[in-house]
Amino acid sequence: MPSLRCINCQTEFPTTSRIYTCSSCSGLLDVVYELNEFTGERLMSVWDWRRASPKAVDQSGVWRFRELLPDADESEIVTLSEGNTQIWEAPRSAGFAGMNRLAFKHLGMNPTGSFKDLGMTTGITQAKRLGATSVACASTGNTSASMAAYAARAGMKSYVFIPSGQISLGKLSQALDYGSQVLQLEGDFDDAMRLVREVANETPIYLLNSVNPFRLEGQKTIAFELLQQRGWQAPDRIVVPGGNLGNSSAIAKGFHELLERGVIEKMPKITIIQAEGANPLYRHWLQHRDQKESENFEPVPHAFTMATAIKIGNPVSWPKAMRALEWSDGEVEFVTEQEIADAKAVIGSDGIGCEPASAVTLAGIKKLVAAGTIHSDEDIVAILTGHVLKDPDYTVNYHRGTLSYSDKNGHKVELQSNHANAFTQIPAERTAILKALGF
Ligand code: F0G
Repeated sequence: MPSLRCINCQTEFPTTSRIYTCSSCSGLLDVVYELNEFTGERLMSVWDWRRASPKAVDQSGVWRFRELLPDADESEIVTLSEGNTQIWEAPRSAGFAGMNRLAFKHLGMNPTGSFKDLGMTTGITQAKRLGATSVACASTGNTSASMAAYAARAGMKSYVFIPSGQISLGKLSQALDYGSQVLQLEGDFDDAMRLVREVANETPIYLLNSVNPFRLEGQKTIAFELLQQRGWQAPDRIVVPGGNLGNSSAIAKGFHELLERGVIEKMPKITIIQAEGANPLYRHWLQHRDQKESENFEPVPHAFTMATAIKIGNPVSWPKAMRALEWSDGEVEFVTEQEIADAKAVIGSDGIGCEPASAVTLAGIKKLVAAGTIHSDEDIVAILTGHVLKDPDYTVNYHRGTLSYSDKNGHKVELQSNHANAFTQIPAERTAILKALGF
C-alpha cells in the first residue's frame, strides 16, 4: 500500500489523510511505495503491453503506469487521456545550441496544452477519493486551466487564484470556459500561493497546487513515458524549466523510483533552467550545493520575467528540487529575457513551437554548452512544458519587433528580434502581392 512520508522527519501518514505537508514538522510529503514484486522486467513488460490496450486507463499516459501511482478505483479515475506526447528531434535547435543532436518531449501536446494535465488527473482523482466537492489553486495560468478542465469533468466546483494582469489571456480564457470561479488578486503569484494555502486550511476546499504530493505523482510519469518511448534507455540529461519547482522534482522522483527498481542503471542529470529575474533556486544552489541540508532559502522578491508561467520568487518545492539535483548530480542555470525570446523562435523554426517558459530549456542548453558544462555529443531530452498557442501576444510581438518590458526602475527595455520572421501590411492587389513575393 502506498503511504505519505515527510521528506524531512520521515513521519508516515496514510494516503487517505487530508494533509498537504507534514503535520509534525511542516516538511513536504512524498507518496512512497513498497518495493514489491513489480521491478525491472516485470514493470516494463506490463507497461509495454498496456500501450496497445484499448481500455481508457491504459490509454492514459499516466494511469498506464499505475503500479507506481496512488491507489484509485478505476471507476473513480478522472482522465482526459493525458500524456502520450511525442519526443521530436530538433536539428535547428541542436545547431543553435552547439549540440550534435537534441530532442524535445512536448508536454504542451496534452489536453489543455501543458504538462499540468499529468498531475491534475491524479490530483482530481485523489480529491474525489477524499470526497472533496471543490478544489482550488494559485496559478500563473496553466495549473488553473488544467484544474478547471479536470474539475469540470469530475463535476466539482473550482476556484483559481491568479495574479491580476500577469497571466496570458489564452490561459485565463481556458479557466473561464471550463467554468472555474476566477479570483484575480492584486498581487503576484507568491501572494496568491500563500493565500490559497491559508484558505484551503480553513475551508473544505481541496488544494491542488504542486505542494500536494498527489499532483507530483502524475507528473513523475513524464520520466516513465519518456523511457518507454526510448525503449527504456535513459538519456544522459533532462533539461526542464523551473518555476514553483514541482515538475523538476516530480521527474527526478520518477527516474529515481525506476533506478531503485532496476529499470534503469543511472539517473539522467536533471538540469533546471530559470529566468534571470526569477532565479531563487539558482542562487540557493550556488551557495548550498555541497551541503547535505540547507534550510535558509531566500526568495526573490518581486520576481520578474516575460515568461509569466515561471514568474515565481518563492517556489514551494525547492527542497525537493535540491534533492533532485543531489540524486542526479544535476545543474541549475538561468537565462536572460533576450535568450528566452530568441530560443523560442528557434524552437518554432523546427516546426515545434512552445510558450516562452518552455524556451528556457534551449537557451539554457546553449549557455551550458558554451560554458563547457554540457558536451555537444550528450544525449539530451529537453522538456517543453506549454503549447505555442498559450501566449500568442508574446510570439507576435517578437516577430513584429515590439517585444519589450519595464525594468525595476520603470525603464523600457526593448528586445532584439534576432530570429524574427517579420511581416508587413500591403495593399490588397495583385501587383503588390507579386512584388512582396519577389516575382
Ligand atoms: N513551464 C510552464 C509552461 C509552466 O506553466 C510552469 C509552471 C513551469 C514551466 C514551471 O514548472 O512550477 O513545476 O517548476 N506553471 C505553474 C502554473 C506555476 O501555475 O501554471 P514548475
